[in-house]
Amino acid sequence: MFATSVQGLLYKYVAKPIFFRKDPEKVHDHVIRLGKWLGEKRIARFVISFFLKYENEILSQDVLGIHFQNPVGLAAGFDKNAELYRIIPSVGFGFEEVGSITGEYCEGNPKPRLWRHPDIQSLRVYYGLKNDGATQISKRLSKKRFTIPIGVSVAKTNCKETISTDAAIKDYIKCYTAFSSIGDYDTINISCPNAHGGQPFSDPERLGMLLSQIHEHRSRKPVFIKLSPDLSLDEVRDIATMAKKYSIDGLICSNLVKKHDLGKGGLSGKPVAAHSLELLSYLYKNFSEDFVFISCGGVFTGEDAYERIRHGASLVQLITGMIYGGPQVVGEINRDLAMLLKQDGFEHISEAVGLAHH
Ligand SMILES: Cc1cc2nc3c(=O)[nH]c(=O)nc-3n(C[C@H](O)[C@H](O)[C@H](O)COP(=O)(O)O)c2cc1C
Repeated sequence: MFATSVQGLLYKYVAKPIFFRKDPEKVHDHVIRLGKWLGEKRIARFVISFFLKYENEILSQDVLGIHFQNPVGLAAGFDKNAELYRIIPSVGFGFEEVGSITGEYCEGNPKPRLWRHPDIQSLRVYYGLKNDGATQISKRLSKKRFTIPIGVSVAKTNCKETISTDAAIKDYIKCYTAFSSIGDYDTINISCPNAHGGQPFSDPERLGMLLSQIHEHRSRKPVFIKLSPDLSLDEVRDIATMAKKYSIDGLICSNLVKKHDLGKGGLSGKPVAAHSLELLSYLYKNFSEDFVFISCGGVFTGEDAYERIRHGASLVQLITGMIYGGPQVVGEINRDLAMLLKQDGFEHISEAVGLAHH
């Protein structure tokens, strides 16, 4: 506990002021290179794990047949090209979602495409699904052994060639099938706020066409759908109804907020929190028999994670909390979560899921 508070102070007063003076995308790229390099060294993994990782049986659970040591995952978009899967477990995450990955290599939108908004503890993201593409990334991960569950976030290539519904579905399926035997679950990302043609698969009819194809190519892995926080509850109900029809296993709420007036791109962090919680509560109240829920957006502390779990999430994900708070927040969230669960008399995390609604 003492060690993590020292690391927190070091991040706040030393590392963060340096990082926050530099271009955000360059910092992101440097961190990826460093993380990849450290992940290749056994000693680095050991030392980082020693200082950052928090373990407690109360946090471990099986969800959809997958074992999670703890419920805190790295959300899609940080490790776009799946280069950090070795180091992420040492940082203390219980799972990682790589990507989003698209059918073809995708350069993303023109730079600049990432901004910080410290006043609202947010990032504005306009990457536009930059990634190496399904073929190269699946080759990179093929036959690798992972020490935590890995989710693969599948999206459609951001270019004008995938604007028609047929071409978009083909692109999704190319990526989905490339990973059929890699990782532990898949997420169909229908909510990228920064791609050509908007979010066409938030429309239930088009979503049905996409999901029927996913159904036809279905692998052994559970499938999640990642939702936009900008949808009305009626739209969310229609999407969930369609997802149920095609036996989708879970929903992730949510992606970046697109409705704002700060410029192009979607907002992460605190501006997502209230939307994300509202969406989760609505879905849990109406579809708890049908889906497992992952809550994402504005999780910065153990209290935030606990609130999401009590409102129906089995798992949570984050990126922005780690960027503003430092890598030790992952262990801190897990430690505080374990303490809050014990304080409320729970013996196991699964007992707290959805209790706020009962
Ligand atoms: C830099 C960055 C890139 C992102 N890229 C993706 C992406 O490729 N696919 C996706 O589903 N979500 C992406 N997201 C959204 C996150 O997965 C998450 O839904 C959102 O940031 C809210 O979580 P947070 O507040 O903990 O950051 C990205 C977020 C950030 C900050």
